[in-house]
Amino acid sequence: MVYSEKGLMRNTRIVFALIFLITLFIFSGYADAQLDCMKCHKHMLTKKFVHAAIPMGCKACHSEPHQKNPKFSTGLSAATPDLCYNCHDKTKFSKKNVHAPVAGGMCSSCHDPHTSDYAKLLIGESPDLCFTCHDKKGFSGKKIVHSPVAGGMCITCHDPHSSGTPKLLPSDPLVLCFNCHDKTEFSKKNVHMPVAGGMCLSCHEPHVSEHIALLTKEPVNVCLECHEGIKKKPHVIVSFSTTGHPIGVQAKGIADPARKGRKFDCGSCHNPHSSESPGLFIYKADSSSQLCVNCHKK
Ligand code: HEC
Ligand code: HEC
Ligand code: HEC
Ligand code: HEC
Ligand code: HEC
Ligand code: HEC
Ligand code: HEC
Ligand code: HEC
Ligand code: HEC
Ligand code: HEC
Ligand code: HEC
Repeated sequence: MVYSEKGLMRNTRIVFALIFLITLFIFSGYADAQLDCMKCHKHMLTKKFVHAAIPMGCKACHSEPHQKNPKFSTGLSAATPDLCYNCHDKTKFSKKNVHAPVAGGMCSSCHDPHTSDYAKLLIGESPDLCFTCHDKKGFSGKKIVHSPVAGGMCITCHDPHSSGTPKLLPSDPLVLCFNCHDKTEFSKKNVHMPVAGGMCLSCHEPHVSEHIALLTKEPVNVCLECHEGIKKKPHVIVSFSTTGHPIGVQAKGIADPARKGRKFDCGSCHNPHSSESPGLFIYKADSSSQLCVNCHKK
């Protein structure tokens, strides 16, 4: 076949016109599709908070919706969490200790990817959100409930995603405790060794306890854990007595003469954290004998 120059030019114009029309068709079709998504799925976006990814278009995440056998469920362009990491910095979610549902890519177990009535697109508020997987019993119902736990402030002490510190703590336990508790009580002249070592959790539960001051055990037993020997020899030995003070099981029920409403135990004479006096005495005393008068009035 032979083309005349005129015919070739006419044909070219037709081709350009066709390309223009096709492009117009695709673009208007695309715009329609965008509109269409909202036409049928509008109910999805009626809640208070909408994911900032939504205005970027549903196809930012669902590259092929309405497919019979999509590569990823609901026609997503990737599975979670990789889908999320397209826009969110992965490093925040992959520090040394990763929360199990994050490691499992179950972002949707806590977040609605589209819209939510709760801040941060959460599907519920903490602590109830946490209790969907963690047994509530471990955080309530006991005699003593740590005030921030009772207040449902789980995320002041835990990063919900991942952390460089064990148990998803945002920092070392000691630093964490001192965020809310006055450090001076723990840094007097003589500091009890486990306190100096930041081992608050060797004596305290972080959430709830049956014992005063969130102790892990009965007060005396907390101390005997490390000072077993005390039980075997008379404590606070004095020349005229070979038995010493009734401590441990023997002391059950004896009232503390100096602290109203409290039982007589190790804490009657010792501060578990720190003290200006030697021997971690709770009273101002330069020697053992100065301690006695607080209870044994002359
Ligand atoms: C004519 C109405 C209509 C339009 C337009 C529409 N959808 Fe749907 N879509 C449905 C219905 C009906 C379902 C099935 C019921 C359901 O899950 O809500 C569905 C299901 C889905 C699903 C879930 C599972 C699957 O089959 O993939 C996704 C994701 C989805 N649509 C995304 C989109 C996106 C993105 C658009 C725009 C590109 C869109 N839809 C446009 C009606 C529509
Ligand atoms: C940020 C990514 C993202 C965007 C943007 C997004 N989706 Fe989704 N969508 C998801 C994920 C992830 C799931 C799967 C949720 C799950 O596993 O529970 C999903 C599930 C769905 C489903 C089925 C389950 C349901 O929630 O009903 C529909 C329908 C749907 N999307 C529609 C849309 C529509 C319509 C748009 C645009 C208005 C949109 N999505 C935008 C991530 C996204
Ligand atoms: C297409 C990009 C994109 C994708 C994919 C994406 N997001 Fe987002 N997301 C954003 C933007 C933009 C913001 C707002 C800025 C910010 O907080 O980083 C945001 C904010 C958020 C917020 C905070 C909301 C708030 O109120 O502060 C959460 C939670 C969130 N995204 C979860 C997810 C989850 C879960 C996925 C995966 C299912 C995901 N995102 C995937 C773009 C995206
Ligand atoms: C166990 C529940 C849980 C899981 C699983 C979870 N998140 Fe979160 N996410 C939260 C909570 C709670 C917040 C709010 C933190 C705050 O307010 O300080 C949050 C906040 C966010 C934010 C807002 C930015 C920020 O750090 O405050 C983004 C983005 C986010 N999550 C993305 C994701 C992605 C992506 C995944 C999956 C890899 C995921 N989340 C899995 C509970 C979860
Ligand atoms: C979707 C289920 C799920 C939700 C929701 C959830 N967790 Fe978890 N979490 C787990 C699983 C599974 C483990 C690992 C098994 C275990 O230790 O019980 C875990 C472990 C933990 C650990 C111990 C981590 C470690 O390194 O030992 C902490 C702390 C924790 N979760 C806090 C929270 C907090 C706070 C919330 C609420 C913001 C929450 N979780 C919500 C499933 C969940
Ligand atoms: C005052 C800080 C604080 C608050 C508030 C707090 N936790 Fe913890 N949580 C801790 C510490 C500290 C540990 C580590 C205990 C240990 O190492 O023995 C821990 C451990 C955990 C563990 C792991 C338990 C185990 O034995 O491995 C889970 C799960 C957990 N917390 C969930 C929660 C939930 C859910 C809430 C809210 C109801 C919450 N935490 C509130 C400080 C806190
Ligand atoms: C050797 C065990 C032990 C260690 C370690 C320990 N505590 Fe205590 N803590 C106690 C005992 C026992 C009480 C109860 C004191 C009493 O008899 O009233 C207590 C009481 C408390 C109280 C209640 C208020 C008060 O002062 O009576 C707080 C708060 C407290 N401890 C925080 C901490 C913090 C924070 C750490 C770590 C820096 C820590 N504890 C380390 C044993 C310990
Ligand atoms: C978010 C703030 C916060 C953090 C973090 C925190 N606490 Fe507390 N804690 C409180 C409040 C508030 C109270 C109740 C008021 C008070 O007694 O000072 C309390 C009370 C206590 C009590 C006395 C409980 C009672 O009823 O007798 C102990 C013991 C205690 N905290 C130990 C710790 C330890 C150990 C840590 C670190 C693992 C810690 N706290 C971290 C806020 C916090
Ligand atoms: C986790 C282990 C541990 C626990 C629990 C513990 N202690 Fe200690 N305590 C030590 C260590 C270590 C020393 C320093 C070495 C020594 O004197 O045995 C010490 C020293 C002491 C001293 C001597 C301090 C001095 O300056 O002379 C007293 C008093 C004391 N503890 C009382 C207590 C009391 C009271 C309790 C219970 C509230 C208790 N301890 C619980 C580990 C512990
Ligand atoms: C009546 C007051 C009193 C009570 C109660 C008491 N202590 Fe003491 N404790 C003392 C005195 C006084 C000393 C100093 C003795 C000395 O060094 O001469 C001392 C010294 C100590 C020491 C350091 C010296 C040593 O013997 O190892 C430890 C540890 C100790 N007590 C632990 C305890 C524990 C644990 C309890 C509870 C089971 C307890 N104390 C109950 C008064 C008391
Ligand atoms: C915190 C109060 C308290 C302090 C301080 C205290 N005691 Fe006691 N003491 C008691 C109590 C309570 C008993 C038991 C009384 C009873 O059996 O009902 C007791 C009993 C005794 C006994 C009789 C023990 C026996 O053999 O039955 C002697 C001796 C004694 N104390 C000497 C001392 C000396 C010495 C000091 C000073 C180093 C001292 N106490 C400090 C509260 C205290």
